[in-house]
Amino acid sequence: MAQNSVIVYYSWVGNTELAAKEIAALTGFDIQKIQEVKERKFGTMMTSAMGAVFGLKSSIKPLDFTLQGYDNVFLGVQIWGGKTTPAINSYLAKASFKNKKVWLFVTMADNKTPQKFIDKLTSKIEKKGGKVMDALSITTKWDPKENVVVSADEIKSAVKNWIENIKI
Ligand SMILES: Cc1cc2nc3c(=O)[nH]c(=O)nc-3n(C[C@H](O)[C@H](O)[C@H](O)COP(=O)(O)O)c2cc1C
Repeated sequence: MAQNSVIVYYSWVGNTELAAKEIAALTGFDIQKIQEVKERKFGTMMTSAMGAVFGLKSSIKPLDFTLQGYDNVFLGVQIWGGKTTPAINSYLAKASFKNKKVWLFVTMADNKTPQKFIDKLTSKIEKKGGKVMDALSITTKWDPKENVVVSADEIKSAVKNWIENIKI
């Protein structure tokens, strides 16, 4: 496995984080978490979804946006209101994907491959010089009242199956 790879992800509820950590456990890749400056309170589902729908960006904490030293970037995102989240929108604006191979993993409640979402995200990354190699989408069970991960085993096995079958 290529060691010049990094996993970068955002996660509010924890599903994408679980997937990211599983990739790290299977590969030993470095891992970086995108964090919002202002903690997003649970119970703000509508405002959060609307922020995504309108394509807003939120302030995120500093990270090494140059991605220097890495050839492969495993980018973990989730779907809100059919779109990328404000934290991911900020990351996409700041990160340099030039000459990077980008592997997407997407978590969502829906159970069909979110092709339009993947195509849009791919085009944003490719405009910044990255090449999207593959995209895994994982359906997560979602309980909006609890805001907890309820399908950990399914997420882990989807990730394992993906990592074992891609050629990095
Ligand atoms: C504000 C909000 C909006 C969401 N909108 C969608 C959606 O439009 N389509 C979908 O399939 N899932 C939607 N979901 C479900 C999330 O994509 C899913 O729970 C995902 O795994 C969350 O990632 P996280 O646990 O890493 O935060 C939404 C969840 C939240 C919190």
